[in-house]
Amino acid sequence: MNETILTGIKPTGKLHIGNYFGAIKPALELAKERQGSTMFFIADYHALNFLKDREKFKEYTYDVAATWLACGLDDENLVFYRQSDVPEIFELNWILSNITPKGLMNRAHAYKAIVENNLSEGKESDDGVNMGLYNYPILMTADILAMNSTYVPVGDDQKQHVEIAREIARIFNNTYGETFILPKEIISKNVGTIPGLDGRKMSKSYNNTITLFCDEQELKKKINRIVTDSSLPDEPKSTDCYIFKIYSLFANKTQIEEMTRKFERGISWGEVKKETFEVANSYLKDMREKYNYYISHPEIIETFLKKGAVLAREKASEVLKKVRENIGKVNF
Ligand code: ADP
Ligand code: TRP
Repeated sequence: MNETILTGIKPTGKLHIGNYFGAIKPALELAKERQGSTMFFIADYHALNFLKDREKFKEYTYDVAATWLACGLDDENLVFYRQSDVPEIFELNWILSNITPKGLMNRAHAYKAIVENNLSEGKESDDGVNMGLYNYPILMTADILAMNSTYVPVGDDQKQHVEIAREIARIFNNTYGETFILPKEIISKNVGTIPGLDGRKMSKSYNNTITLFCDEQELKKKINRIVTDSSLPDEPKSTDCYIFKIYSLFANKTQIEEMTRKFERGISWGEVKKETFEVANSYLKDMREKYNYYISHPEIIETFLKKGAVLAREKASEVLKKVRENIGKVNF
């Protein structure tokens, strides 16, 4: 079978090292390992339920694009596009809305969490919920099914969304006959959840991120802000701490072993932070340069995206042709 690996990132803020190690890097590695086609896209219309600022919407869209490009997206078999350039996705979104049980959306984690939070604060259950947010899993399903995707690499938090996509595909196939491949999520196990500066999950929503391509000064400042305990410099330290986890993301095996020995012997947090900055900076340096290049040349980004949109539309058009036939749409 011809496999398609597909994943998307929504432009809701500047990407951080959690996004890189949790989503971008594993997706790029998977694309290298597997035969078949790979599709990476900017899930820009997914950001609209949250973002209502024109300038930020543009800025974050280019940030996601430049990040993918800087991280080494150059494979020949890879299609890179912007969701909003593919109208077929939105047609499919509507068709799928009509076979999706409302209860399936009520059970989606992201929506449920907001409802629970509202209730606990004594607000109305749907306070602040727009239909874009409520229907988010259907649009994500359309993203996945429009490209006939077989595998969807995502972080653990997106697992349920891919399960919903599989369920909607199954309902469609039962209603109208075999049309869609049932997609499967691929969760990268080895990185887990990357902690933020305060130790909670690193997330744009918590304001605790290390922006992936911030400048050196900013990187140093952020690393210095990572929470540590109050142990003295010469006291032995446990490697089960946030700073060690961040250090290990950027360091090689030998460096990690050496740092482990330093922790056993005793090392000051200041020194650990300094070394963390050094490994992080040398890991990110070249990619940051490429990122800055793309950010200052949006026309090059546009060229990539336009080329990608043509290929993505070709694929989605084939899928939609079959969908329209199967639902009995009449063409005069
Ligand atoms: P955020 O929480 O910052 O808004 P998104 O929800 O946009 O991030 O996530 C985009 C991708 O990055 C998803 O695949 C998600 O699983 C991954 N990701 C986000 N934060 C982390 C983290 N702290 N650790 C690992 N992966 C993450
Ligand atoms: N919902 C995903 C996130 O928040 C982004 C996304 C949108 C996506 N459409 C997708 C991921 C399709 C994989 C496949 O991270």
